[in-house]
Amino acid sequence: MNKVTVVPGDGIGPEVVGSACAIIKASGAKVEFEEVLVGMRAEKEFGTPLPVSVLESIERNGLALKGPTQTPFGGNYRIYVERMRGGSEWRADYPSIAIALRKELGLYVNVRPVKNYPGVATRYDNVDLVIFRENSEDLYVGNERMVDDDTAEAIKRITRGATERTARYGFEYLKRTGRKKMTIGHKANVLKMTDGLFLRAGQDVAKDYPGIACDARVIDALCMELVIKPETFDGLLLANLFGDIVSDLAAGLVGGLGVAPGANVGEKCAMFEAVHGSAPDIAGKDIANPMAVILSGVLMLRHIGENDAANRIDAALTAVLAEKKHVTRDLGGDAGTKRFTEAIIGKL
Ligand code: NAI
Repeated sequence: MNKVTVVPGDGIGPEVVGSACAIIKASGAKVEFEEVLVGMRAEKEFGTPLPVSVLESIERNGLALKGPTQTPFGGNYRIYVERMRGGSEWRADYPSIAIALRKELGLYVNVRPVKNYPGVATRYDNVDLVIFRENSEDLYVGNERMVDDDTAEAIKRITRGATERTARYGFEYLKRTGRKKMTIGHKANVLKMTDGLFLRAGQDVAKDYPGIACDARVIDALCMELVIKPETFDGLLLANLFGDIVSDLAAGLVGGLGVAPGANVGEKCAMFEAVHGSAPDIAGKDIANPMAVILSGVLMLRHIGENDAANRIDAALTAVLAEKKHVTRDLGGDAGTKRFTEAIIGKL
């Protein structure tokens, strides 16, 4: 029996994560849930949005299903983590809960499958790709400083080790799932050293996978092509910041953030979460679409080899979406989160 740390999170988090857990339970998958508090609710109760006990729970279980957590914009807001690591006291601070979790748990790659589902209105009907985003370095880690009151700078650091690790994960994933091509997105024409290294390291790993074609695109051209002919892409390998941006662009191709799942994977743990935020505007109203967390749960089940349960949930969700009778408002229906969930359980 696999134990999963469940992080309901903030805003609509408890509603959509509750929905996903109910469906996973009903699917007969051999998993148990251990619920923990992260985010604003944890801050109120424990004085920190990320209690160390949460990190320990995920490390112990190796698996987490996470709802969105709220991170205030601007100012000097930081997430502080203090704990024993490798026998000595460890202190670190991070700009957001998501980054703190990724760093502390060593979740080095972010995986975002992007594909069409029936009944989800989009401009395209033939998208089916997977994004592999390096998760641990690049500008996105927020290593920045004020030089003076009117000058700020950030450090972009790329290493061969981190790039190769992500590339290898990506190529292995493509091989396992029968996919045929990886495209490396970069800006090596201008950022010759940092993105140049990212591109070279990715291409070096590609040599070990002769069955998978590898090409490369400058990131701006890649964005344009994604919008014009998304069906030509299969796997995408991207550094952290470009990966962040392109992941949302790609989510937009198949219906937006409300339907996009994601996984953060490391050597020892994996955390599965929706791409959308805590949607405070609709929290507690039973109208949030739980699809992204449900699909994140499907990714989690595949990750632990519960393929039968994963396939059944995917099929049940697809059937409910195609019928369009019990879907949430954002999908053109009038069902609440609970009714949508019940309809999926009914199809399992
Ligand atoms: P958001 O994704 O929460 O909301 C953007 C819009 O999409 C809103 O109109 C919202 O109602 C709608 N929406 C989002 N998810 C939906 C769903 N499942 N069903 C139906 N409609 C949905 O993005 P926003 O407003 O920029 O961020 C709100 C908070 O979420 C912020 O505090 C931010 O830091 C946090 N956030 C957390 C993330 C995470 O924990 N992984 C990721 C992104 C944002």
